[in-house]
Amino acid sequence: MMMFCFESMGSICFMPDRDQVRQLVFDAVHSADFVRATFAGATRAARCPWRRVVVRPIERRGERVLQFSYFDDRKDTTHNFPLQEAAPPLHELIAFAFAGVHLTTTRQEIDIRITKKEKILIGRRDIAFSPVMITHNRVKNLPLPEGRPDRVLEVMGIINADGRVRPTMRAKFNQINEFLKLLCHVLDDAGLPSLGRPVEILDCGCGSSYLTLAVHHYLNNIARIPARVMGVDVNEEVIRKSIDRSLRCGAQEIRFTVGRIAAADIRPDLVLALHACDTATDDALALAVASQARAILSVPCCHHDLNDRIDSEALRPLLRHGILRQRSADLVTDAFRALALRIVGYRTEVIEFVSPEHTARNLMIRAVRGVPPGEASFVGEYREMCRFWGVTPYLERAMGERLTMYLSQTEPTNRATATACD
Ligand SMILES: C[S@@+](CC[C@H](N)C(=O)[O-])C[C@H]1O[C@@H](n2cnc3c(N)ncnc32)[C@H](O)[C@@H]1O
Repeated sequence: MMMFCFESMGSICFMPDRDQVRQLVFDAVHSADFVRATFAGATRAARCPWRRVVVRPIERRGERVLQFSYFDDRKDTTHNFPLQEAAPPLHELIAFAFAGVHLTTTRQEIDIRITKKEKILIGRRDIAFSPVMITHNRVKNLPLPEGRPDRVLEVMGIINADGRVRPTMRAKFNQINEFLKLLCHVLDDAGLPSLGRPVEILDCGCGSSYLTLAVHHYLNNIARIPARVMGVDVNEEVIRKSIDRSLRCGAQEIRFTVGRIAAADIRPDLVLALHACDTATDDALALAVASQARAILSVPCCHHDLNDRIDSEALRPLLRHGILRQRSADLVTDAFRALALRIVGYRTEVIEFVSPEHTARNLMIRAVRGVPPGEASFVGEYREMCRFWGVTPYLERAMGERLTMYLSQTEPTNRATATACD
């Protein structure tokens, strides 16, 4: 997909050779106002191992270095280079001839597109950034660090006026910062900062909106990634408080809506769900899939749905004990979620997003759209899981056709043991 609308940009020019592209990239990357460079799209190099590479300046031990994040279909790798050592990896990226290079400085966005016929198109647009050094390595490597005033964290009651974290809010502070780190990473992975328009983000089961406000604040005011954030929650009282809080933060453009996630009328690019209760997490995943969101970050909460229904003769000794049963149900539910997302075309990982001392519910499902849907091996695993545990996960009902179309496609026609799940 073309990353930028050229007609909307200030200037268009045709450049005859790659040397000038190289010069443009080097000038941007070495300028004091450099924010980010994204290399993506088809490449003409036979053996380019990555589908996207993002370069950004960070501060490490007081020194400005360039962080290169390399994304392939299965994993991502990050390397930091001091400025004086960054030329070889930059040359390498330019040599791969990605179809699109997007450069962001605090003053300009520059989009370079190389067509199939090797024509090089360049668009520029002035932007109204204030000259803030963009860095992920702020104090103690945190996106929203401690020890300096921050109006939004203060209004949320997380820090006091001189920037100290309130002792009772330490866990929330850590949760938010760890979530923000992963958010930036997934934005890059999904190519969202170079959409050429604000990223649409939906926070599902936003509750008191700590995360909603922090995401809006961090992306728009610190990382300088324009984002339109919306929070949805079924509880009218928490939404009323969230609106009040967002106004006190000066973030009146955040939208909130009272209602069930499944009924939200929005097509977000990125879906967030932090501890959305029980099947609310599934509703968030289903909504993301229905709206073809490019990425999902979901930290599930308590699970009840499968807990009442899982069964397995062989695992009776495990399921007999309440706590073991609960934990098994949690793991099975999340495994179903990760697998279902993979089947419908999301590259999916399950990670610990924060240390268990900050929350016992610390597993995150991180998913980025863009792998082939309906792969037979994953469909087979899914059907086998259903059969083994004797259940159909709620998520299958929530996703409906979008998932079942793949499950039925590969179902063997004559299989005596293939009982319907649940
Ligand atoms: C444990 S709180 C988490 C709040 C917030 N995300 C956080 O981590 O601080 C779960 C929230 O999900 C909301 N919720 C539960 N089911 C929901 C549904 N089906 N649709 C919308 N909100 C829901 C609840 O009202 C509650 O505010």
